[in-house]
Amino acid sequence: MQRLLVTGGAGFIGSNFVHYALDNTDYHVTVLDKLTYAGNRASLEGLPADRFAFVQGDIADPATVEPLVAEADAVVHYAAESHNDNSLHDPRPFLDTNIIGTYTLIEAARKQGKRFHHISTDEVYGDLELDDPERFTEQTPYNPSSPYSSTKAGSDLLVRAWVRSFGLQATISNCSNNYGPYQHVEKFIPRQITNVIDGVRPKLYGKGENVRDWIHANDHSSAVLTILEKGAIGETYLIGADGEKNNKDVVELILTEMGQAADAYDHVVDRAGHDLRYAIDSTKLRTELGWKPEYSDFEAGLAATIQWYRENEAWWRPQKAATEAKYKELGQ
Ligand code: NAD
Ligand code: DAU
Repeated sequence: MQRLLVTGGAGFIGSNFVHYALDNTDYHVTVLDKLTYAGNRASLEGLPADRFAFVQGDIADPATVEPLVAEADAVVHYAAESHNDNSLHDPRPFLDTNIIGTYTLIEAARKQGKRFHHISTDEVYGDLELDDPERFTEQTPYNPSSPYSSTKAGSDLLVRAWVRSFGLQATISNCSNNYGPYQHVEKFIPRQITNVIDGVRPKLYGKGENVRDWIHANDHSSAVLTILEKGAIGETYLIGADGEKNNKDVVELILTEMGQAADAYDHVVDRAGHDLRYAIDSTKLRTELGWKPEYSDFEAGLAATIQWYRENEAWWRPQKAATEAKYKELGQ
């Protein structure tokens, strides 16, 4: 396999994977990205011109997708509308991209007999109680809560159906919450870091007891490359790095690392239908494919991420005011 088509490669995790794949293999990568509000061409700077190409376009447009799939050996599908809060206020783009876009891609991959890897989320499994000893596994039933997670669940089920009914050569991965550089300032960690840089107090939804299972984006990329190269067709793999933390603890860590009082944050209106806890059991990926995460020290990874946002204001500043204006309207 030498030529990858990476959809959503100008987004947070997609761009991380593009850098990771170009640094760690001799593959050629073509990115297909619509450059929505979430896409940023600057996240793909400095890549080798002889092994990298960028196409701006919509994954839901067959005329754009089919020739690009024809040129590729494998498709790695990251493109999505990805933010839960947006999905609660304007769900339509989530259906267009996450459902119709995925359908358009798997139809092209099926017709052309191409390998397909579908990137999904742990949110398809719904949420867990704080004291539940169980974590999500590949056997956990789907039970999504938000318009975002239900469209991701729908797209996973389409991929599974295309494997069973049409023999699509696909794998699926469901990963937990990613952190690291190049994440849009609408998301929890970058929002709070950039608020503190701006002298604004971090905003915690509700009581801040909700737990997310944090993984560094580089570890997500190494897992996806492992599954692409060694995964069994038709299989789903959960990706996680045992990084459970509640939101209050994360905000306190950010404040402390940035030299502020640990309690210098505000509680704001909670997210509707807010999932309480996600937790991943990634035993299958670790034992069957031999993957393991490298970034096991969350505090060190968070400190490096804070440093990156301090040093790369030109990357995030253009999105900050509009993002905060949107949150302000919602009381968040
Ligand atoms: P993101 O919002 O940062 O990036 C999404 C990218 O997709 C953007 O570059 C955007 O321009 C592009 N895009 C959107 N609609 C498109 C369309 N119709 N055609 C072509 N490109 C389009 O998202 P992210 O956080 O990098 O997430 C990437 C993928 O990983 C998503 O599928 C998401 O569900 C999944 N995921 C994310 C996380 C996380 O913590 N961020 C965790 C698990 C899984
Ligand atoms: O679990 C994987 C998912 O992680 C991905 O599928 C999604 O694409 C990704 O956006 C992320 O979803 P979350 O909704 O968990 O991430 P978000 O960064 O929006 O919020 C993380 C937690 O922080 C969540 O409990 C809500 C809370 N929060 C968020 C914001 C933006 C706050 O308390 N304050 C905030 O300002």
